[in-house]
Amino acid sequence: MLKKGIICVVGLGLLTGCNSFDGLIEKKETLVGNPHSGKSTVPVVTVVEDEVWEDFFEKESGVVVAPEEPDDEAPTEEEPVSQPDEPAEASEPEAIPVVANPGAMNVMVNKFWSLPEGYRPADLIKPNVLFSFGDENSDRAKLRAEAAESLEVMFNVAKGEGIELYARSGFRSYETQEAIFKNEVATFGYEQAVLYVALPGTSEHQTGLAMDITAKSVGLELVESFEGTAEGKWLAENAHHYGFILRYPKGKTNITGYAFEPWHFRYVGVEIAGEIYAKGLTLEEYMGDVREF
Ligand code: DAL
Ligand code: ZN
Repeated sequence: MLKKGIICVVGLGLLTGCNSFDGLIEKKETLVGNPHSGKSTVPVVTVVEDEVWEDFFEKESGVVVAPEEPDDEAPTEEEPVSQPDEPAEASEPEAIPVVANPGAMNVMVNKFWSLPEGYRPADLIKPNVLFSFGDENSDRAKLRAEAAESLEVMFNVAKGEGIELYARSGFRSYETQEAIFKNEVATFGYEQAVLYVALPGTSEHQTGLAMDITAKSVGLELVESFEGTAEGKWLAENAHHYGFILRYPKGKTNITGYAFEPWHFRYVGVEIAGEIYAKGLTLEEYMGDVREF
């Protein structure tokens, strides 16, 4: 659930990436659903989240106001998902089913599938790579062990080829994502914010498998022009060899729900990344779970 009193990131730009808020409160985990085991696309069991995201933000005079904290009624595993033929009442919260496999390398979280509340992988480590923010032992410097090790290899190989990469934003807790999202809404408005920043609970950064990558050629920022740089091109062409995919490709917003992000790389493992790269797919297409926006 959203918590009142979150301090937003000051001056966070639409494309400037995200900062970490280490030490914020850990959230209770609720593990349910089974939509993404292997390529299976049929949810076995799902439980709804109790938030209606849009209702959490009131846009008045450009000021975003956090809503009252909802009653402390955590969803339970018995709670059913609304059936398609049952029109939801206007006052009912919108359901975002929760994945059953948050710890899987191929977990798919997006605008239709969320992580269990409070999910935080246990094996986060800091890869030995360059960071845009320097040497810092913070959440944003970390990835899950397998992804971190592979990122390190990728950065080293790139360096050997004259490509200097910088990691900018790795793991984000639910609370960090929440703060980033609120700030984005406050700065750019809801419609624009949801094109670039995931709602808390639905970000790949919370899986510990996504890293935003940049380079000095773009001032270590996260900008679309990264696509045309030597570093951006190298990543787009080579990341799959190390198990990473360019998660939000150009021209696929109707499938991913997000604008083109040439900096956001998601670890899925070498096999899946290779197939996704070779076939030019999004993760949604690979998983056979495409819902057009
Ligand atoms: N920028 C991606 C969508 C995120 O916020 O997770
Ligand atoms: Zn990202």
